[in-house]
Amino acid sequence: MTTVDLGARIPNNVNLAGDPRLQRALEQWQPRFVDWWKEMGPEGFLRHQVFLRTAIDVGAEGWANFDYVQMPDYRWGIFLSDAEPDRRIGFGDHVGQPVWQEVPGEHRAALRRLIVTQADTEPASVEQQRRLGAICPSLYDLRNLFQVNVEEGRHLWAMVYLLHSHFGKDGRDEADELLARRAGSADKPRILGAFNAPVEDWVDFFMFTMFTDRDGKYQLLSLAESAFDPLSRSCRFMLTEEAHHLFVGETGVDRIVRRSAELTRLDPNGDAAAQGGIPLPLIQKYINLWCSLCLDLFGGEVSSNAATYFAAGLKGRAHERRYADHAATGVRTLSLVEDGKLVEREIAERLALNEDVRSDYLEDCQRAVDRWNKTLEKAGLDLRLTLPSRRFHRQIGAYADACFTPDGALISRAEFERRQGEWLPSDADRGFVRSLQTRAVMTPGQMANWIAAPAKGIDGKPVDFEYVRTDAG
Ligand SMILES: [Fe+2]
Ligand SMILES: [Fe+2]
Repeated sequence: MTTVDLGARIPNNVNLAGDPRLQRALEQWQPRFVDWWKEMGPEGFLRHQVFLRTAIDVGAEGWANFDYVQMPDYRWGIFLSDAEPDRRIGFGDHVGQPVWQEVPGEHRAALRRLIVTQADTEPASVEQQRRLGAICPSLYDLRNLFQVNVEEGRHLWAMVYLLHSHFGKDGRDEADELLARRAGSADKPRILGAFNAPVEDWVDFFMFTMFTDRDGKYQLLSLAESAFDPLSRSCRFMLTEEAHHLFVGETGVDRIVRRSAELTRLDPNGDAAAQGGIPLPLIQKYINLWCSLCLDLFGGEVSSNAATYFAAGLKGRAHERRYADHAATGVRTLSLVEDGKLVEREIAERLALNEDVRSDYLEDCQRAVDRWNKTLEKAGLDLRLTLPSRRFHRQIGAYADACFTPDGALISRAEFERRQGEWLPSDADRGFVRSLQTRAVMTPGQMANWIAAPAKGIDGKPVDFEYVRTDAG
């Protein structure tokens, strides 16, 4: 077991006190992080008391503490999961060799790039979501938004620790750059597309935590397999926190679906919009948008980068233990676009690894969609929600240069442009959602009209608990 130092300026279980140089460097980065939070974190809620959980340990039992805190005073810490004794590399060309506690020189650049790319998503999501507090549907949801935000901040800390402790000056420079890029900025955008996409309303937020945080889960699962043990241990603990973000997304969409179904049935013309709800076909458009944006995050269908990372042991597949062949030496058949047509091609498995992780991800998403459809079924409605085809609306990979329907049929660009309003939220759709979300619902227990109440509160508290309060107490 690692020892937890909660009294330190930076709470940690990595014995920071035993490395004064590293500790000093991180203590210098800390105020810059807090400045970034004040500038780019949740707008208008710096002084509110928020009922948040804070990581204080990494054990399966009681790893978090719940209490009121003002967000700039949140205790962002560095926590690695306990080391696995005699851990061995589980995949690639070096299967069975001991994992690395230090970064091998030949893999330094690639590992730094992987860590920076993961790290960049964490502050990006906080920036994307910073204006949502002003239009929150309830105090319960406001608190969940902030919980997700502070934990993305902690994930940034987890990655910055790795950069500072293992990558010298380059790592420290990268850590500074992580506070300099801005989601959606034209000059200094975040690294990945979905992390520059606007998150303007709460349907976006729930879709983001459903689809984008779930991408994060699969990236973390792949990095948790890494031969670089400190990275693996960081990611394993981040996954514990990530589970709550996915819960917020999946149940958030479910609560919208439930309320929309109710309002659809209530309205004489079956029009949820007329009752101030979000029409189910519009929810489908948001699913199409966010699912397709997130499928891009797994990279190209055929990827030599993925093959290189895998061979070297840097980044594996989610739950590598499931696979029989840890060297991934087989071939697999992929549908690719050639000369404007879909063709089947045999591809070396190592070049197609992104597809393995993408398939796991889609299966996981489908489980949530099935749950939403159960809600529709119980409400007595025939409409069902679906995931778009993995070919729909892609900007990266084998399908990026062609156009497809949400069912995956190849169509012309002209047809896509003509019909995209049927499949993706239009400006008018977004305007309508915003017209339902114009103010914050700040009365304990009250919900905006377009979303159902959650089944239960947080940490055993009732739904009408005052999860966020303005007083200083
Ligand atoms: Fe995260
Ligand atoms: Fe997350």
